[in-house]
Amino acid sequence: MNDAREILATAHGVSKSYDAGRIAVLRDVSLTVRAGELVALWGASGSGKSTLLHLLGGLDLPDHGELMVCGLDPRRERDRLVLRRHRLGFIFQLHNLIADLTVEENLRVPALAVGTANAATRARIAELTKRVGLDHRLDHRVQDISGGERQRVAICRALMNAPQLLLADEPTGSLDETTGNSVFALLKELAARDGIAVILATHERRFAEACDRIIRVRDGQLNEVSA
Ligand SMILES: Nc1ncnc2c1ncn2[C@@H]1O[C@H](COP(=O)(O)OP(=O)(O)OP(=O)(O)O)[C@@H](O)[C@H]1O
Ligand SMILES: [Mg+2]
Repeated sequence: MNDAREILATAHGVSKSYDAGRIAVLRDVSLTVRAGELVALWGASGSGKSTLLHLLGGLDLPDHGELMVCGLDPRRERDRLVLRRHRLGFIFQLHNLIADLTVEENLRVPALAVGTANAATRARIAELTKRVGLDHRLDHRVQDISGGERQRVAICRALMNAPQLLLADEPTGSLDETTGNSVFALLKELAARDGIAVILATHERRFAEACDRIIRVRDGQLNEVSA
């Protein structure tokens, strides 16, 4: 089938090892992800899901292989800067918010990095927090809100600068079932409604099965299995 949607992430022949090659995590893997796709990276703990997301997001470098993300090369420093500020949102497993700042202050950080005007920043924060049902929590400090609320703030932060690609590293990992479901539903909507490409690392089968595609991560290899 001919798929006309824009390709937003590719890996080609990528290998990554740690500890001077003693721990081979990814061996010659390839991957293509298009706009509007919600793709699960599904695998056991230690299989290499985070490693692959870090390579795509320019947080780590491959030993070998080509990477292209939103038309940029995350292996190059100059491209990484543009990627991180403008094209890419990263949601970390442990949210990485600043605990003693408020929700609003945390969401201002990405806007500060690119110099967005204050009024536009305020409007974007209002729009995103309304969408995830957190607009009544703007003045609360992150340390005073629940785990599910924090993860929703982390998603808003990743979306502040309107990325084309969202890399989500087990964003439901620390959440109870109901809250996890609502976070997952939001990711699904971002792909389906907003056309964002979402790559979701998860070890939970039920989430993987609800994605458009499932890529199994095992023994250093990626294998597409039917969703
Ligand atoms: N900086 C590092 N130095 C050495 N080994 C590492 C490093 N980062 C990851 N590893 C190892 O690489 C392997 C893959 O790790 P990775 O974090 O990608 O797994 P994962 O699939 O994300 O697991 P989890 O589901 O537990 O988050 C693991 O065996 C891990 O111990
Ligand atoms: Mg991980």
